[in-house]
Amino acid sequence: MHPDPRLKKLCAPVTDMTDELRALADDMLTTMYDAPGIGLAAPQIGVLSRLVVMDCIKEDGEKPRPLIMFNPEVIATSEEQGTYEEGCLSIPEQYADVTRPAEVDVRWIDREGNEQTETFSKLWATCVQHEIDHLDGKLFIDYLKPLRRQMITRKMTKLKRELARG
Ligand code: NI
Repeated sequence: MHPDPRLKKLCAPVTDMTDELRALADDMLTTMYDAPGIGLAAPQIGVLSRLVVMDCIKEDGEKPRPLIMFNPEVIATSEEQGTYEEGCLSIPEQYADVTRPAEVDVRWIDREGNEQTETFSKLWATCVQHEIDHLDGKLFIDYLKPLRRQMITRKMTKLKRELARG
């Protein structure tokens, strides 16, 4: 949970696809769905590797679309911008509008080790950019004005202290 130095680190690329990594990705999806959330990046569970999972399908009855992305990279962005209210499982109960490119092309390695490329838009575009930011040690609150960011960080520090006290 923020503030945590591990959330500020540049994560290392995944060079070898192993069963261990696949199991880690599957666990992350479970954690994300349980939260519930629409995305989770490895550094959020203390693993400093370039791995994110996401699924932005939120409607009940709609088929889930779990995505596992190793070494995801934004390779193109639209000029058009989109604004969404973002939150983060590492910054519970704090939300703020963030403006980002409305569409992004992303390249990644999937669970089977195959390269994939896809254009994401709307909520998916926001989510994938938010998650890739995590791999570069960047949080959505880093897009906010300093005062707002400091306020959220202070609240989180207090919450962490309370949780530690039990
Ligand atoms: Ni997040």
